This record gives sequence, structure tokens and C-alpha cells, in this order.
Amino acid sequence: MKKKLLSTILAISMVAAMMVGCGGNETTPSDAAPADSEAATDETGAEGAPAAAATDGETARIGVAMPTQSSERWIKDGENMKLKLEALGYEVDLQYAEDEVQTQVSQIENMISSGAKCLVIAAIDAGALTTVEEQAKNAGIPIIAYDRLLMDSDAISYYASFDNEGVGTAIGEYIKNKKDLDAAREAGESYTIEFFMGSPDDNNAVLLHKGVMGVLQPYLDDGTLVCKTGRTSFDDTCILRWSQETAQQWCENYLTGYYADEDLDIACSAFDGFSYGIKAALQGAGYTAENWPLVTGQDAELMACKNILDGTQTATIFKDTSLLADKCVTMVEAVMKGTEPEINDTTTYDNHVIVVPSYLCTPVAVDKDNLVEVVVEESKYYKPEDLGL
Ligand code: BGC
Repeated sequence: MKKKLLSTILAISMVAAMMVGCGGNETTPSDAAPADSEAATDETGAEGAPAAAATDGETARIGVAMPTQSSERWIKDGENMKLKLEALGYEVDLQYAEDEVQTQVSQIENMISSGAKCLVIAAIDAGALTTVEEQAKNAGIPIIAYDRLLMDSDAISYYASFDNEGVGTAIGEYIKNKKDLDAAREAGESYTIEFFMGSPDDNNAVLLHKGVMGVLQPYLDDGTLVCKTGRTSFDDTCILRWSQETAQQWCENYLTGYYADEDLDIACSAFDGFSYGIKAALQGAGYTAENWPLVTGQDAELMACKNILDGTQTATIFKDTSLLADKCVTMVEAVMKGTEPEINDTTTYDNHVIVVPSYLCTPVAVDKDNLVEVVVEESKYYKPEDLGL
């Protein structure tokens, strides 16, 4: 009874505050919380980002903007988000933009105009959405950045992702341990290595490169690792829109131009998609099980897992997208109901305007030794039969 009365008072005062204090806010009284709803507060995750009206009693629509269906991980992400939000009674407008920035902008504009109460965005180009983000903010629609940080905007309430520098560190550590770089250094031996890094418009890619180099740079500096193309910086190794085709083409060019007389020992790949392109280039250049390099990846896509089992990819980074969706959904609930989501990072994700409160899940390196344990037995990410087991 007491709680209900408090809710009613809070809801009424919230409606009053909206009517008095929100000059530029297009939220209308009919968008506001019904008088008997749970308390909705004007607390925001980040300064400047709006809090949504609680919408108990009506079906609130959540817009979920995903980058592309060309990579399996985003299909899983979209499916998970839809299922989990629908289970909580939300209506979900899930859109994929097939890596076309303008398509994603239009999709988000449509979500705003068709009455979405909250937006979840995995950006294609993280800095290209500032205008639509401003529109959402002006319409009182909170935004949650999904997996990729949304840059240059104060309209972002929360960010759900994996520890992106940690992904790079895990890749670097995997290479260091698998090749025992310390022993190689002691013995005066060296390994050749080439880098295939992520898209320059994706903050994750920058952090991943930082994590990789945090581990591997000393070995490049002392010659334990030899990069024959000399391409080690992020600018020299980033691949726009995470293109598999570009990775394949680069790898073909590297093998022809720099590795005619000496094998490539390590392909440091930031994405399973790149690793498929690298695999094709290696096969084209005549590499076999005898001299196949160590090839890393990211996402534990089904094809990557199969390639790990057959030896044409060495490792990947498992990021449980179901867990990520769980965390993101708590953020949606927070902005819709005025609750507090769990946050575990309030310092790292500075988008040039605000530091976005974040929850970072933990990435796990997998290779053939722990693949089944991690992706089948523990997480149930795949069924044994998916992997032909
Ligand atoms: C994600 C990675 C993914 C890549 C390419 C990044 O933003 O964090 O998991 O491999 O995009 O889709």
C-alpha cells in the first residue's frame, strides 16, 4: 500500500516535472507513466541522457539496431536481444543495416518516429550517428550502446560490451604462450607475424590493437617477432568494416610479396571473418598442415570453431552474446523503470563527450584444447551436433 502511494506520488510529480521543465523535450503527457505504475525517476545513466517514462500497462517498443547479418555473431546478438526483451513484455523492432551507414541512420530515424521508447544500437560507424542520437535525446528516448561504443554524443545512457582491450590482451597472450616467445627469445629464435586488425570506425578495434601490442610489442622490439611487411601500427593494419575480402586480399599480397622464401608463422587476426579470408589465402599459397601458421580470431563463430577442430584456425575469442544480451536488457529495464543496472566500469569508455557507464563481460580464449568445454559444455553456446560431435 505504502509503496503504491509512493509510486503514485512519484509518477504524478514526474508528469508535472515533464510538463513544467522539459521545454525542448517532445515527450507528451500521454507518453508518461500511468499514475499507478512503478516509480519512475529522472535518474539517468549519463549526464544529459534522458530517462524514459515507465510504461507499465502498455507495450513499450524497443528499437534494436544491429550492423549486419553477414557475420554470425550479430545474428545471434539480435536473436538474443529480441527473445529476452519480448520475454519481459516489450515489443521489439530489430533492424539490420548490412554495414550501410546511411541505412542504419534511416532505420534509427524510423524507430524514433514510430514511437520507440528506448534504442539499443550496435553501430556500423560509431561516430556517424550523432544527429539521430540528438533527435532521440530531444524526443526523450534513451540510448544504450551495444557492444560498440557510440562516440561523440552525450545522448548515451549506458554501454554493454566485452572488455575490448582484454580481447586484444587475450589474443596477444595466446600467441605469447603458444609460441613460447620467452623461450624463443632466450634461444635467439624468431617467428614471422602479420596483423589483421578491425575497422577504424569501431572503438573496439582500437582497444583490441592496444591490448595485442601491450603483450607483443616487446617481442617485436627485440626481434623475437618479425613482421616482414613492417605493418604493425593500428593505422597500417586496420581493415574498414571488418571486411573478410580485404583480409584475404592483404594476406594474399603479403604471402606473395614477403613470404616467398620464408613461411608466415603467425597471423594475428582480430576477427573470425578475417581468419576465413586468411585461410583461403594460405590454401591458395599452398600451405598445408606441415607449415600452417598460428591463426587467431574473435567471436567463436560456428565456422571458426569447426576450423579450430580441423586445424585451419588455431584459436578464437569466445564472447558469450547471450550474457551480453542479459546485461543489455538490465540496462533497458533501468532506463524504462528508473532502476539501476549493474555497472562495472565508469572510467574507460570516454566517447569524447562523456564517460559512458559500462558493463564489460569477460572474453575467453579458446583453442582445440578447451573449445568443447567452453562453447558446448559450460556455456551451451553450441550443441555438440552443431560442431559435428
Ligand atoms: C565486435 C567483434 C566483432 C567485430 C566484427 C566488433 O565490434 O566487438 O566481436 O568481431 O565487431 O563484427
